[in-house]
Amino acid sequence: MADIEAPLNYVREHRDDHQNELIEVLSIPSVSTLAEHKPDIEKCANWIADQLRRLNLDTVEIKPTGGHPIVYGEWLQAGADKPTVLVYGHYDVQPADPFDEWDSPPFAPEIRDDYIYARGASDMKGQIFAQIKAAEAMANHGGLPFNIKYLIEGEEEIGSENLEAFIDNNIDLLKCDFVLNTDAGIYSKEQPGITYSLRGLAYFEVEVRGPSKDLHSGRFGGTVRNPIHVLSDLINGMHDDNGKVTLPGFYDKVREVPAEERASIAALPYNDDEWKQMSASKALHGEDRFSTLEQIGIRPCLDVNGIWGGFQGEGAKTVLPAVATCKLSTRLVAHQVHTDIPAMLNAYMEANVPEGIDWEVRDLGGGPAASMDINSKWMKAAEDALRESYDKDTLFSPEGGSIPVVGMMQEKLGVDSIMLGFSLPDDGIHGPNERQYMPNFFIGIETYIRYMDKVGNTN
Ligand code: BES
Ligand code: MN
Repeated sequence: MADIEAPLNYVREHRDDHQNELIEVLSIPSVSTLAEHKPDIEKCANWIADQLRRLNLDTVEIKPTGGHPIVYGEWLQAGADKPTVLVYGHYDVQPADPFDEWDSPPFAPEIRDDYIYARGASDMKGQIFAQIKAAEAMANHGGLPFNIKYLIEGEEEIGSENLEAFIDNNIDLLKCDFVLNTDAGIYSKEQPGITYSLRGLAYFEVEVRGPSKDLHSGRFGGTVRNPIHVLSDLINGMHDDNGKVTLPGFYDKVREVPAEERASIAALPYNDDEWKQMSASKALHGEDRFSTLEQIGIRPCLDVNGIWGGFQGEGAKTVLPAVATCKLSTRLVAHQVHTDIPAMLNAYMEANVPEGIDWEVRDLGGGPAASMDINSKWMKAAEDALRESYDKDTLFSPEGGSIPVVGMMQEKLGVDSIMLGFSLPDDGIHGPNERQYMPNFFIGIETYIRYMDKVGNTN
């Protein structure tokens, strides 16, 4: 592959620069869910747009949405005989709290033992930045091998709510042969992997109200229902003894997974001890009759993400609270419809909330599940590029996380996504001490170059 020697050499010679720029973008606290970070979101969008400008694209624009802006870029000079690839990424990150659990501040990136530690290092500024650097090297050393479009959003971590309308209004603009989705990872440090499915999500806030004001827990305790107890009972009842979710109709659309797929999941490298280590847990627990990897990849689940109510301060306050609230999410698999879940949760509440308690379910959105064709030529090209970089065959695995845009692009644009990224399962995404393994960041840049070259030569 003589024609990619120049970009490969270029990126090898510029590793320090790339690392420094990565530190720069990781220093911007582009937390999408917190209003106080709106200026950082703008700053980050501009930073990304400036990076894209180095590729000499036809256009680079910051497109406003009803929420955080989308960075869009395109270069369509490769010719009609070349594919058009839409590169997707997100520049927003999750909140970094609790801050005191970080060994170094989340927005002051630090390199320790080959890892860079910062919020967004792995999810996913590191990935989209690696792809941009690969494309920059190609654009400036021989040219981009296909028509390219960039869509880098600022709302993935809050459900890509405004992206849906953006896609609806820009079907022609976003037309492409496939999406290169860089919000992705490999199987382990030395083992390349590609995600072939993602779970969907439906997210809620559930509030229950008992007395119309807080009460003295001695004066009234034992005589009226305590909303925290009610909420606890309700949550407890959402799973049966076999670990199944009890919302009415929850499993109605869940498919029977073919034996062949279950066998391929069973063949993936896995061991309980490692899973315990990665999940920082002493024991595993889940739905009966499904393996851990099946629970993640092909089974839906329900989790409470946070809960509050009553007295939370120091010391003791004898109070019987008026209100209890929780955040609750369901992860969904193929064929389940995320917009069906609110009615199921409401039906569950209807049937189980005791007399005298008021309740409200607030729908905080979500996104569809998605599964990808692993036999497409674009997928083969990704396997080949990974094989060249890692000297190993790629493992295909179903993933438990959600990326709403993948299902949206299938539905609205009729295109599949190739999930090619270099994060690792133990990078601690969404948690404290999120990190990215620098050797894979650099190999990632090279792999994107190889991949782009192969896609350009595919017809
Ligand atoms: N990169 C993740 C999704 C992911 C995580 C995929 C782990 C595969 C394995 C993405 O940024 C993410 O966290 N998405 C949110 C989406 C939600 C807010 C709609 C998620 O899964 O919680
Ligand atoms: Mn994320």
